[in-house]
This record gives sequence, C-alpha cells and structure tokens, in this order.
Amino acid sequence: MHLATHADRQQHVRGSHTTASTVRKHCRRVSARVALSDRGGERAPCGRDRVHAAVNALSHNRIQIMHGVNLDQLGRRNPAHYGGITFRQLEQAIDGFARELGLDARFFQSNSEAEFIEHLHRLGEVADGVIVNAGAWSHYSHALGDALEIAGLPAVEVHLSDVMAREPWRHVSVLAEHCIATVSGKGADGYREALEALKAQLGG
Ligand code: DQA
Repeated sequence: MHLATHADRQQHVRGSHTTASTVRKHCRRVSARVALSDRGGERAPCGRDRVHAAVNALSHNRIQIMHGVNLDQLGRRNPAHYGGITFRQLEQAIDGFARELGLDARFFQSNSEAEFIEHLHRLGEVADGVIVNAGAWSHYSHALGDALEIAGLPAVEVHLSDVMAREPWRHVSVLAEHCIATVSGKGADGYREALEALKAQLGG
C-alpha cells in the first residue's frame, strides 16, 4: 500500500475539505429539491452526516490513542513497571512512530470512565482505528468493553507493563475480545507494534 508522506497527507486534507464543501453544496441542492417536491415527506439523508461520511471515506489513517485512568500520572508511577517516561514523552514517542508509518495519531486521556466511554461513542466520526490503554479499567470495566464494541473500529489493547507477570487480577482483560491484538510489557515500543497492526488491518 502507498505510504503517505507528510506532503501527501497535507494534500489529502486539502482534498477532503474540497470534497466536504462540495458535498455540503450538493446537500443544499438536494434539500431544496426535497423541500419543493416532497413537503411533509421524508427528507433525504443530508447535512452533517453526509459530510462526515464523505470525509471518512477519504481517510483511512486516523488513529485515536486513548489513555485511561492514571496514565496521565506516568513519571510518578512505579518505575519498576513503567520506567521513567512521563505521559507527555509517551505521547510524543507515539506521535513519532505514527508519522514514520504515515499514520495520523490523535490523543485522548481521561480519568473519568464516563468521559472515556462517551468519547468511544463518538469515535466512528473521527477515527479509523483505535489504540486503548485503559489502565486498571481494562481488567474489570465491561461497560468499556461494550463501548469498544459499539465503536466498531479495529482496536489494539496496549499495556506498558507486562500485566501477565504482575498480580493475578491484572491477568484478566475484559477488552481483549473486542481487539484485534494485545501488546503488553514492551513499554513505549508496544505502541509502535500496535500502530503497525492497525496499519496492516486498515490495508497498509
Ligand atoms: C497498565 C497496566 C494496568 O494493570 C494498570 O492498572 C495501569 C497501566 C499498563 O500500561 O501497563 O494503570 O495499563
């Protein structure tokens, strides 16, 4: 598959905007026709949904990186498990890996499970694939598993530490069944593996 360069991606984004505005104009025309010919009847699918669909159809490299509870505290956590990397350094490293692979990484972190789930609900509009390190939620939040299923995107679960070598309660993942792969115990490099798996899944 074609590996998008930065220039390609810029061009791609410009192309997307053009297409989105073309679709918007077309939608206005369709709406006007519907209003004239079918007053009171069902309206043609239009507006924002249609623009999103058109834009989404053009991009397949948007990867949402989702970090859950306590991951923002990296740098203050047990270095025996997490090394000395700060959260900011981790996000920068992931962004670098993504660029090397021609992927567009977007970042989200929350300590609120509700916010995390609501972001997953919206994900289909803004991403083509997702990497999830949900921290401790990974081991018990079936609600989060359900939300991943609803998102319906290819997902990879990542853990910085080797969860299988830690306490037994960390050996269980309620997210794994909704993911195409799990990477654990490889630190920041695990995210590169996850990105590679998603790229392959998305046709790269
Ligand atoms: C973690 C592993 C989890 O068990 C733990 O609760 C975390 C981080 C990891 O990245 O290794 O918060 O997801």
